[in-house]
Amino acid sequence: MYSFKTIVITVMMTTILAACESGDQKKETTADKKVTKVAWGETDGKQVDLFTLTNANGVQVKITNYGGTVTSWVTPDKNGNKSSVILGFDSLSGYLAKPPYFGALIGRYGNRIGKGVFKIDTATYHLATNNGANHLHGGNKGFDKVVWDATPADNSASLTLTYLSKDGEEGYPGNLKITVVYTLTDDNELLIDYNAETDKPTVVNLTNHSYFNLTGDVSNTILNHQLQISADKYTPVDTGLIPTGELNEVKGTPFDFLQPHKIGERIASVDGGYDHNFVLSRKGTNLELVATLSDSVSGRKLEVFTTEPGLQFYSGNFLDGKFKTSDGKPINQHTALCLETQHFPDSPNKPNFPSTLLKPGEKYHTVTKYKVSLLKQ
Ligand code: GLA
Repeated sequence: MYSFKTIVITVMMTTILAACESGDQKKETTADKKVTKVAWGETDGKQVDLFTLTNANGVQVKITNYGGTVTSWVTPDKNGNKSSVILGFDSLSGYLAKPPYFGALIGRYGNRIGKGVFKIDTATYHLATNNGANHLHGGNKGFDKVVWDATPADNSASLTLTYLSKDGEEGYPGNLKITVVYTLTDDNELLIDYNAETDKPTVVNLTNHSYFNLTGDVSNTILNHQLQISADKYTPVDTGLIPTGELNEVKGTPFDFLQPHKIGERIASVDGGYDHNFVLSRKGTNLELVATLSDSVSGRKLEVFTTEPGLQFYSGNFLDGKFKTSDGKPINQHTALCLETQHFPDSPNKPNFPSTLLKPGEKYHTVTKYKVSLLKQ
């Protein structure tokens, strides 16, 4: 028989142990959280947050719901030193100063639409012209400058962003409901899953405008990075960077990146630097590896996978030191580059380009994946 005292002590011990366990569990779930959130300010009367996605290797990607912007992606270099391979600021004010789309989600139409005009059937639409005579990256207030609704996943390093672009916004027809899901995998991949639906025929071309410098430091140029792009054609442009409509062979030109080349090797013979859409040689619409960027000094490699037909390679030509990093370094020309997966610029006016038309009842869905790893020594 147990004495009353023994029973009381046993019950007390069990209660204390259970309390300790549940305390530990609580601590564990907080520490293990794959997405954390901090308040980051306010704009347009809306709360802006900064989310940190952490994977099993401790790699972190930070994303704000202002513009759906990726603000940093901290990865180790070959010596284990960590720095961000993506250009970004550590406060909202940096973004409110309108930098050229650093890390942002771009829409309703990524890149340019000539003269800001296009037709669907018999209706002509006039868009905001915010780049000389042309429309660029969704207009004066594109998706990069709006506050998205954000929902972090419970058990994965994933963040869902949604935005309703109203009928007539920046001149586009139809209410467009957009959902973008960012996921950081344990293989150090940032997966971007784009979805949209409309209630009137419209044009859609969504992308992400992250600027990469694999050295993790904008004091270093990207001209020494090696780039390979699986594209045997590109779309030549006029002086306003609007495609002429031709698909030219890259063979024998500075646009031939079928084999890896140093970006700086032939850039002097490209007027203004690289800012061109590459026609990807991919077959079908599966997620395929389309480009590889590497830097032997840091030992980092970036691979780009997409379901899209095009890739805009922009060598940071317009960066001019006007914007500075949060630690005060000027962001000069060619200190970061973009590899924007997309449909071709000005497709709404180019019947021979893959269509960007979205009709009611159809689902827009594209996927892009950026993977950062170390080069084999
Ligand atoms: C894109 C365009 C460039 C430039 C940048 C932003 O990559 O193709 O011409 O407008 O965005 O500065």
